[in-house]
Amino acid sequence: MRQRPSYGFAPEQIPRYTGIAIALHWAMAIAIIGMLGVGLWMTELQTSPTKIEVYTWHKWTGLTILALAALRLVWRAYNAPPLYAESIPAWQLRVATLTHRAAYLLMFAMPLTGWLQNSAAGFPLTWFGLFKVPALVARDKAMFAFWQQAHELLAWALMALIALHVLAALKHHFVDRDDTLEAHPAGEASLTCICGSGSPPRVSASGINSRSLAG
Ligand code: HEM
Repeated sequence: MRQRPSYGFAPEQIPRYTGIAIALHWAMAIAIIGMLGVGLWMTELQTSPTKIEVYTWHKWTGLTILALAALRLVWRAYNAPPLYAESIPAWQLRVATLTHRAAYLLMFAMPLTGWLQNSAAGFPLTWFGLFKVPALVARDKAMFAFWQQAHELLAWALMALIALHVLAALKHHFVDRDDTLEAHPAGEASLTCICGSGSPPRVSASGINSRSLAG
């Protein structure tokens, strides 16, 4: 059996995500994937009290995801993610960085376009019925159609990104057999982990290596 590289760390010293980062990653992953599925399903429902209820829960959950995304960004600003393995090629790090930035962007864009769509439709909005959520824009039929389209298009972009992310995670685990997965939340590469600026730092046998991605 091939040995996994240790990158100069003892197994117990390999940098990993914190408990809070892991909890946020999984809470958001489950919520977002659920929202994508429910979103596609609910739009196909016949008009009924159930449909209205599902739409309402979709909006409440979407607003919660927006708040969690903001929290995740603040957390990420103060907590650096684990280092990448030195063995990972520069082009893969570039793709990973772009993917993670796009994921962050979509985590905000999805709920915001939903909120904009709801505002342009002129529907009242609350958060779990506890307090009123203000409209972001005035009622406008053309803008409603625009934000509705944007919400749907971004949903497909997010689904493609999630598929890419999962495929990359599986490749690292089964093909490359590097420690990318082990260093990530609960053995899974994170959608929310690396969105910092510049080149992601890596780990080599000699310690931290922030070799330029251009190399
Ligand atoms: C991460 C958050 C969200 C995700 C992943 C998500 C996902 C989706 C998806 C996949 C659809 C179906 C698109 C279609 O086929 O037309 C949808 C529809 C919809 N979403 Fe969201 N959504 C999110 C947040 C929100 C929020 C915060 C609101 C409002 C405050 C919202 C309001 C709506 C509405 C009203 C529809 C129905 C559009 C229609 O009837 O054509 N969504 N959403």
